[in-house]
Amino acid sequence: MLGAGAIGCLFASYLQRAGCTVTLLHRPGTPERTLRLELADTTTTLQLQQATVADCAPIEHLLITTKAYDVREALRSAQQKLQPDAPVVILANGMGLQEEAREDFPTLPVYCATTTQGAHRVDAGRIRHAGKGATFVGGAGTVLPPPWFAPWKMGVEDCHWDADIDSALWHKLAINCAINPLTAVHGCVNGELAEQPGLAAQVAGLCREISQVSYAAGYTATAQRIAQTAMDVIRATASNQSSMLQDVEAGRQTEINYITGYLLKVADAHGIPAPMNAALYAKVNSLGN
Ligand SMILES: NC(=O)c1ccc[n+]([C@@H]2O[C@H](COP(=O)([O-])OP(=O)(O)OC[C@H]3O[C@@H](n4cnc5c(N)ncnc54)[C@H](OP(=O)(O)O)[C@@H]3O)[C@@H](O)[C@H]2O)c1
Repeated sequence: MLGAGAIGCLFASYLQRAGCTVTLLHRPGTPERTLRLELADTTTTLQLQQATVADCAPIEHLLITTKAYDVREALRSAQQKLQPDAPVVILANGMGLQEEAREDFPTLPVYCATTTQGAHRVDAGRIRHAGKGATFVGGAGTVLPPPWFAPWKMGVEDCHWDADIDSALWHKLAINCAINPLTAVHGCVNGELAEQPGLAAQVAGLCREISQVSYAAGYTATAQRIAQTAMDVIRATASNQSSMLQDVEAGRQTEINYITGYLLKVADAHGIPAPMNAALYAKVNSLGN
């Protein structure tokens, strides 16, 4: 597994308890760390093998759980040990990652996953599981779950094979486009997007554009319900800080290129104007990340 951060450690523990031998691959020069996972009622030390790509055994199955902007480099870094038919699962926010992986490794079987599980790093070696959620895994054109999915099904709670994973990824991307950049720019928790009329009007405007792009790209279900879904999510997560706001406040790079950036590429390909999304994209990128 590449990306021993919050979500990576959580999924590593799930797959290990389903019987998988999981190796955390770290960058050369990074020392092995004791990783502690704080669950709702217990704290456990993760007993996982740790290695660099140079030291590890041939990779038969790779899970990548880095931030979206690190996925491409992470996959390239594993090239020397990756078996030609090793399934690669990318669990990161946003879209366009599968396409990038296919550009670099046209014959590699690449799959994507999306989750509403929540976890964060308390410090370098401590991961806290913040909330349960559902996980969907799939690959373009793969209708039935491949055999490697069995331990996912067994070890990851509420985990499902999705024959139309692109629609699931797009739906999440659409919600992220409607909420995350606006909270990052205004420095507000999600709930303020519903409470402040000016911000609520901006959400509605963003959703109109997202809906048009969704129709054009064939994501009809998202097109029809994005305005309502975005408001439902805003109210259900009213006190949350979006991950993009957290990244901006911490001075980290954001994942905007794989969220709004991807939406804008699709909009452009279909000749659909999306000026509100474009303005927010520029604004978030100007925040210095
Ligand atoms: N956390 C959540 O609750 C959650 C929920 C749903 C989706 N997601 C998505 O899941 C992805 C991961 O999020 P996260 O919160 O787990 O991020 P994170 O805590 O920052 O973890 C990412 C990890 O990847 C490592 N990494 C980056 N490039 C690497 C490379 N080339 N080789 C080895 N390790 C590398 C990072 O190491 P360094 O720290 O040393 O750079 C870090 O440990 C994101 O796309 C996020 O949006 C997260």
